[in-house]
Amino acid sequence: MHRLTEEERNGVYKAIFNRRDIRSFLTRPIPDEKLRNVLEAAHHAPSVGFMQPWNFILVKKEEMKKKLAKAVEKERRALSIHYEGTDREMKFLDLKIAGILEAPVTICVTCNPFSGGDHVLGRNSIPETDLMSVSCAIQNMWLAAYAEGLAMGWVSFYKKSDVRSILDIPYHIDPVALISIGYTDHYPERPLLEIHNWEKRRQLDRLIFENKWETKETGKMMDSEDFPLPHQNKC
Ligand SMILES: Cc1cc2nc3c(=O)[nH]c(=O)nc-3n(C[C@H](O)[C@H](O)[C@H](O)COP(=O)(O)O)c2cc1C
Repeated sequence: MHRLTEEERNGVYKAIFNRRDIRSFLTRPIPDEKLRNVLEAAHHAPSVGFMQPWNFILVKKEEMKKKLAKAVEKERRALSIHYEGTDREMKFLDLKIAGILEAPVTICVTCNPFSGGDHVLGRNSIPETDLMSVSCAIQNMWLAAYAEGLAMGWVSFYKKSDVRSILDIPYHIDPVALISIGYTDHYPERPLLEIHNWEKRRQLDRLIFENKWETKETGKMMDSEDFPLPHQNKC
């Protein structure tokens, strides 16, 4: 195993802790080499049965970005209904602005459940491990973007059917994420949703259990106490 120097180790943690989801971008283009590095990082993610279910559609044309942005805005408006009349309504409408139009590149990361053939080691037991693999690739992109001095935002407000038809994606391929990448001059120190008092990071200690599922107070409505354990659920 290759050991990291202390400086390298600190670098890894720095990227993990300082990486942020970014919503506003400069239109300045990204050098091809940096974009390539981000994609190489994605492609070196772990994947179930080494199936590598990802593809990356690089969207740079203004006309295509406009179409994607429209689909996202439509979904954002639809979702805002859930917050109508609540104190979260205005926050939601202000906050969730996708950077698709500003960022020089939007990458649609897709999942091909058939990329490993009929039988993929591991995926046969848990089918969604293909999506989990794509999520690992996206997290690698996020960290690599940070290392490259780039900002990245993950957009998931869209109907898959809209994105499929805009980007000509076949029905068996899952458009998992729209990723905006570019430079920014707004790199927040904390998650935007935390800064805007939408949600805050929970205490790690409350999330760590020993030996068995525990009923710790999480301060959330859907606490484990509200749900019976499987062996208690005898009706
Ligand atoms: C699966 C996934 C989907 C997400 N979708 C969206 C999205 O549609 N819109 C958005 O503004 N942020 C989205 N985000 C970003 C999260 O809001 C963000 O990661 C979270 O608030 C924590 O902030 P941080 O990434 O800066 O630490 C998504 C993140 C993940 C992991």
